[in-house]
Amino acid sequence: MRKSLIVVAIAGALLMGSFSAASVEGSASSVEGKDKKAKSLFTRLGGKKGIKAVVDEFVNNCATDDRINKFFADTKKEPKRLAKFKDNLADQICQASGGPCKYKGKSMTAAHKGMGITDADFGALVEDLVKALDKFNVGATEKNELLGALGPMKSQIVGQ
Ligand code: HEM
Repeated sequence: MRKSLIVVAIAGALLMGSFSAASVEGSASSVEGKDKKAKSLFTRLGGKKGIKAVVDEFVNNCATDDRINKFFADTKKEPKRLAKFKDNLADQICQASGGPCKYKGKSMTAAHKGMGITDADFGALVEDLVKALDKFNVGATEKNELLGALGPMKSQIVGQ
């Protein structure tokens, strides 16, 4: 009787052990599951609200940057035009980052045609964007992902 009680106790302990191992495995795989469903860049940028705040700051930086403000002088003078420009930029970033927006503006080639934008101008604008992202404490990963999405547009913007 005593022996069989010990056998039952050992079997029980083994069973419990395997159950807890299974539950640990279960939680590990659900963590993996969460990783697979990683948040989109759009969400990590704070959604449309976060993007609009960054765009506001970004455009303000460009318009006050001595290196490139001449490009934005006319835009700045017309509040409606400035608002439209910001809306287009926010939609473009929203769409490029996986958000539920549709960019309805001109192609990058058409939008920058005849402006004579140089490599240096482009670099200055990127710096102004990074400054805006830094102001809102956007992380390095998010910054790199966004710049990676916008960077390839350079050939459609510079020298048009
Ligand atoms: C990746 C870089 C860039 C992106 C994503 C971008 C995006 C845009 C977008 C979405 C528009 C609005 C197009 C429309 O009206 O339909 C625009 C217009 C414009 N961009 Fe860019 N751009 C970039 C680089 C630059 C650079 C380097 C400059 C000059 C230094 C510049 C100057 C302008 C100006 C002056 C306008 C016209 C604004 C207005 O409507 O009055 N852009 N850009």
